[in-house]
Amino acid sequence: MLIQFSLIIGAYLFGSIPTGLLLGKAFGVDIRATGSGNIGATNVYRTLGRRIGIATLLGDCLKGLLPVLLARYLDVGESWIVAVGLAAFLGHVYTVFLGFKGGKGVATALGVFLGIAPLAVLAALGVFVVVVAIWRYISLASIIAAALMPVIIAAMGQKPPVIAMTFFIAALVIYKHRENIHRLRAGTENRFKA
Ligand code: G3P
Repeated sequence: MLIQFSLIIGAYLFGSIPTGLLLGKAFGVDIRATGSGNIGATNVYRTLGRRIGIATLLGDCLKGLLPVLLARYLDVGESWIVAVGLAAFLGHVYTVFLGFKGGKGVATALGVFLGIAPLAVLAALGVFVVVVAIWRYISLASIIAAALMPVIIAAMGQKPPVIAMTFFIAALVIYKHRENIHRLRAGTENRFKA
């Protein structure tokens, strides 16, 4: 049990590292004070450009992937792997380092699912890319991909703990996009510029 709980606490703390904020600070910008104010890759990309945006995406994604891979390597069992992934995701969304105000969780969830169900990620990414190509809203693509993820995961025959985690993550990702949803409805959401 000690290994499992250490993994969960470690994953939460690792997920809590605010990659986008740290990279922004390295370039003299508080990412929370620009664009959408979010600490995620989209806002870093918007504010500091492609290279730093992609670095943020990779960093946030690894925060979800590495703890899951470690838990898998240590062979702690499916339910614990799910709990570790969830802890990393919650670390990003409710980071202890920023008074529990974190990001929207998309990139970290991507990393978690890459470690747990990579084929499902491929399907969701396909949807994501199509939505961005048509409407050019990263937020809309994130919301739609998140909403579809539990269906994809269930259709792929994943076990109940994975399905439950996916529902929870999807609901939280959509909830964290509530301001984006208001902007999308008002027609004021930022479009993605490559
Ligand atoms: O992953 C976050 C993205 O979906 C929206 O980011 O900065 O436009 O709120 P942002």
